[in-house]
Amino acid sequence: MTNLHPDLARIILSEGEIQERVKALAAQISSDYANAERVYLIGILKGAFIFLADLCRHLTIPHVVDFMSVSSYGKSGVVSGAVRLMLDLRDPIQNEHVIIVEDIVDKGHTLNYLYHTLQGRSPTSLRTCTLLQKKRDKLDVPIDYLGFMIPDVWVVGYGLDYADKHRTLPFVAELKREVSGIS
Ligand code: IMP
Ligand code: MG
Repeated sequence: MTNLHPDLARIILSEGEIQERVKALAAQISSDYANAERVYLIGILKGAFIFLADLCRHLTIPHVVDFMSVSSYGKSGVVSGAVRLMLDLRDPIQNEHVIIVEDIVDKGHTLNYLYHTLQGRSPTSLRTCTLLQKKRDKLDVPIDYLGFMIPDVWVVGYGLDYADKHRTLPFVAELKREVSGIS
């Protein structure tokens, strides 16, 4: 393997694998919403911006892109249960077909919070799309479009970070445990 950054243990998903899967997700979404006037894609900052950028450029249906940002209480890299809205949408989503686009679902607190927040704004339909999901026994929010199921390790790249590092790697890699301190 060529020059993997010393913070990284191994590549979990290659650039090629990711690109192929993103194209397939876009094709699926384009087909599912073929009869809709348009789809409202809501990217969750910061992690989902690269995934959303690639996903929306493969869509063959009319779509609008907007963003939200949330933060979990807790130290950098450590995910706690409480979620706080940091940046809201520009426009109402009433009567829109909405898809939440996330980078990764771990315990599901973030997606669950966003799902219920947006559900309360009366969209015509609401679905969820995430590039990655960590294996969990139970999740209380539905995932309609999933890129990859991954093991329960801290991953970076393709938009995902650790303390704002490694976001722009074209692949997804596992962070070494001694770097994150998360076991
Ligand atoms: P959840 O609320 O437990 O599902 O956590 C989801 C959020 O935590 C994601 O939106 C990410 O911002 C962050 N997160 C969880 N696991 C990872 C990871 O392995 N790498 C980078 N960010 C992660
Ligand atoms: Mg996120």
